[in-house]
Amino acid sequence: MDALPAGPTEPPIWQTLRWLLRPISFMESCRRRFGDTFSVRFLGFKTPMVMLSDPDAIRALYGNAEHGLPAGRTIALLPILGPRSLLLLEGSEHLARRRLMLPPFHGARMRAYEDTVRQVVAEDVETWPTGKPFALHPHMQKVTLEVILRAVFGVTDAGRRAALGAQLAQLLTDTASAGLQLAVLLQQRFQGAPDPLKRLHERRREIDRMLDREIAERRADRREDILSMLVAARFEDGEPLADAEIRDQLMTLLLAGHETTATGLAWTFDLLLRHPETLERAEHDERYLRAVVTESLRLRPVIPQAGRRLAAPLEVDGHVLPAGTDVTPAIWLAHTRADRYPEPFAFRPERHLDGAAGTSAWIPFGGGVRRCIGAAFAEMEMRIAIAEILSRRTLTAASPAAERPVRRNVTLSPAGGTLVIGSYPVQ
Ligand code: HEM
Repeated sequence: MDALPAGPTEPPIWQTLRWLLRPISFMESCRRRFGDTFSVRFLGFKTPMVMLSDPDAIRALYGNAEHGLPAGRTIALLPILGPRSLLLLEGSEHLARRRLMLPPFHGARMRAYEDTVRQVVAEDVETWPTGKPFALHPHMQKVTLEVILRAVFGVTDAGRRAALGAQLAQLLTDTASAGLQLAVLLQQRFQGAPDPLKRLHERRREIDRMLDREIAERRADRREDILSMLVAARFEDGEPLADAEIRDQLMTLLLAGHETTATGLAWTFDLLLRHPETLERAEHDERYLRAVVTESLRLRPVIPQAGRRLAAPLEVDGHVLPAGTDVTPAIWLAHTRADRYPEPFAFRPERHLDGAAGTSAWIPFGGGVRRCIGAAFAEMEMRIAIAEILSRRTLTAASPAAERPVRRNVTLSPAGGTLVIGSYPVQ
């Protein structure tokens, strides 16, 4: 018997294009044709990627801490994040840093950032037009970048925040370009070609200089931001993080936490504005608002996959996948199973009111030892931002149809940027 499950037989270029351009219909068609588990072939990968959506299989995959990272992540992220990034390390090096970086993202420490979020959102909403359509997504990007600059990097000087913010936003735009990614792949083919990353490296050096100044200041004067906590943190042997590594982790938090949360917010508004009763209840009921965020991350998962390279064989669906296989949950498919979520395509926050969705059928933040460390922070940020926005503006959807998911970097984001029309609420 073939060890790998069946999958589409179309050429890899075709499968890659469908995954990039129409990810939802690609996954749905695979589910229809092959069931819960199937193998896809992407351009540039020597071996197939196995996709899963059965919660037990997902639990088995994420339950083994020994599994590594799938190929591909390093090539794309190393130039921006640096070699010590939590997103790129594996095994004991990864775990040691994860332990050290987790504490500020939980409990009272995290709640201290609620006011920061409220303030940043309030300032941005004041710049919104009224009475004419505008795209919400770019505003959510501005807000989440500003929250990271204040809560994570702790830059209190407004001038420095603007300068660093501009450089970081440009870095993220540069790295998102498909042209650049293609140039990197081509350069690997043709030795001696000009380095397409030259400008990127220059920008990263400029950013490093700015970050070094912040790190030095925080060493002299600890504050409440996450950078101060990284500066104070110690490994089990008592060693602190080196400055170069702190910079890598700051860039990691920026890259992992900025676009993702902004996109989650844009999707939540796209859903809320098309469900007026839900919107109304979310305005007045904090517990319900939590369920809204959970349901939005279920129905519009921002990240479509969070895979592993198997360190040991994995038994799923009658197959024994050998060590070395790349395996990922298809998050959209896991979230839209009729056996777990009756009427799976309906936006219905009520389904989460009687408990946390923390199961292997709800995995917007991945799972196991690599589960998103910013999950609680992101949910807090989304809740506070939604409440603050709704208290300052009455919003309606400006386009008749729900947004279509398109790929933006590693996210699935609303094609039209979530067009809305705002007005001042009637007192
Ligand atoms: C709605 C917003 C967010 C979504 C959907 C999201 C999703 C994810 C996913 C799917 C992973 C990979 C997990 C895995 O491989 O199992 C991840 C990892 C990570 N996320 Fe998030 N994330 C969000 C917000 C944030 C925020 C706000 C931060 C921090 C400020 C953050 C920091 C990280 C880090 C550092 C990792 C790497 C964890 C590790 O490898 O140990 N994320 N996130």
